[in-house]
Amino acid sequence: MCAHIEEIANICKKYQVPLIEDAAESLGSAFHGMHTGTFGEYGIISFNGNKIITCFGGGMLLVNSEDAEEKTVKVRYWFMQAQKPARWYQHTEIGYNYRMSNIVAGIGRGQLKVLARRVEKKRYIHAYYQEYLGSLPGIHFMSMNGRY
Ligand SMILES: Cc1ncc(COP(=O)(O)O)c(C=O)c1O
Repeated sequence: MCAHIEEIANICKKYQVPLIEDAAESLGSAFHGMHTGTFGEYGIISFNGNKIITCFGGGMLLVNSEDAEEKTVKVRYWFMQAQKPARWYQHTEIGYNYRMSNIVAGIGRGQLKVLARRVEKKRYIHAYYQEYLGSLPGIHFMSMNGRY
């Protein structure tokens, strides 16, 4: 079932809860004119091997807040092993080795050129499955507007 993202975003705004949107599967999709991953304060896109664009692993964090730059610097710090800005390896807290190499990032960027074509192909496959399986009992397809 597709999340009722606009309702969730409104509730989060009302109660000042940061919304982290798991948009792992949905790069290239939009709902009511907004790209998935951009409804909350944070959005996450996966570049795992089974995704529309792949870097064989890793992903992308989208930050959408007034202090986005500050938050981005903090995230970068954590995924770079919490390395302090020094000429030697200086770590005063635990971080993670989650950075993507520039070679792998280049492979991902190259695929952005074909994203629209891949979305079209997914729509074609969706329509194909719907045509041949849609009348079977117990089989339901999500509609293009994100609802059953
Ligand atoms: C909705 C959703 N969230 C998270 C993930 C995990 O992404 P990753 O494999 O990049 O950790 C996936 C992967 O299929 C997913 O579909």
